[in-house]
Amino acid sequence: MNKRVGILTGGGDCPGLNAVIRGAVRRALRSGWECVGILEGWRGLIDAKYMPLDLEAIRGILPRGGTILRTSRTNPSKRPEGMNLIRQNYNALGLDSLIAIGGDDTQGVASKLHEAGLKVIGVPKTIDNDLSGTDCTFGFDTAVNIVTEAIDRLHTTAEAHNRVMVVEVMGRHAGWIAVASGIAGGADVVLIPEKPINLDEVVKLLQHRVERGRTFSIMVVAEGAKFADGVQVTLSSKIDEFGHEQQGGIGTVLAAEIEKRTGLETRAVILGHVQRGGSPSAFDRILATRFGVIAMEQVIKGESGKMVALHGGDIVTVPFSEALTNRKVDPELYRVAETFFG
Ligand code: F6P
Repeated sequence: MNKRVGILTGGGDCPGLNAVIRGAVRRALRSGWECVGILEGWRGLIDAKYMPLDLEAIRGILPRGGTILRTSRTNPSKRPEGMNLIRQNYNALGLDSLIAIGGDDTQGVASKLHEAGLKVIGVPKTIDNDLSGTDCTFGFDTAVNIVTEAIDRLHTTAEAHNRVMVVEVMGRHAGWIAVASGIAGGADVVLIPEKPINLDEVVKLLQHRVERGRTFSIMVVAEGAKFADGVQVTLSSKIDEFGHEQQGGIGTVLAAEIEKRTGLETRAVILGHVQRGGSPSAFDRILATRFGVIAMEQVIKGESGKMVALHGGDIVTVPFSEALTNRKVDPELYRVAETFFG
């Protein structure tokens, strides 16, 4: 009988998920392994929702955003008998291994399953780029490209109206998207969760631009950026199964405050889920494909408890334990962005 591997995508989607699935399935088929798609993240293993992952299923998916397996933020530990049901369904499906494609929450569950004796290999994804253990996650490059294009477009309208544009970007507790797109788009101020917002300083920077004869400014703010009192602006009080609040809204608060303090006409632009949608960049397609192929090679070798990762130019594996802490923005990168402030 053929060996079988399950593949699932968990947490927020990001461009490149389908490229991982395609890479893993194509590599599996070459070695005579059969693939089963688990639908909607961990929910699919709890509720027994699957689809066959054969050549036909993965045809044409390389450039497609989203995930053909769909996804959810299901935490099995928060569901009655969740972990037990996963184990039962893993066995009932005759799985020899599982590939879990996701961020820190998904890798956390994968790690628990590995400790409970199931074979699991992880693949890191997130537009936030905040996973430790890997130099980069796929999805990030595409998101940065989308934000950069938005900043380019906002430059022309900001300039036409003598306005300050406050561009709020995603990234949860890390400022990677903000800093990278701020550098690529030539932002005049970048605010990130790693550094408390100092409004006096921001106002000074904007006024300095006015003194230099600049009639407009572009400010990028990460959704997780906070004022010195540490209070997080959120869109709602709802908390997901992994304990995350729904972030967003800091851009609007800041825009009002900046207009009040400087007298400069200011608008907030919240890019939101646009950053996660659509086709992956070439960089993300390549990284995701390498992750998919090499994750499957780990499965074929009988490995478990590891996540594939990018180290320098190489794809390596790291134990789950190395992948479970939040990776903050590189201060050196922020320092480069700061050169262009004000
Ligand atoms: O983790 C990816 C991410 O896009 C974050 O940047 C953002 O805070 C969150 O997901 C949004 O989650 P949801 O899609 O559940 O609104």
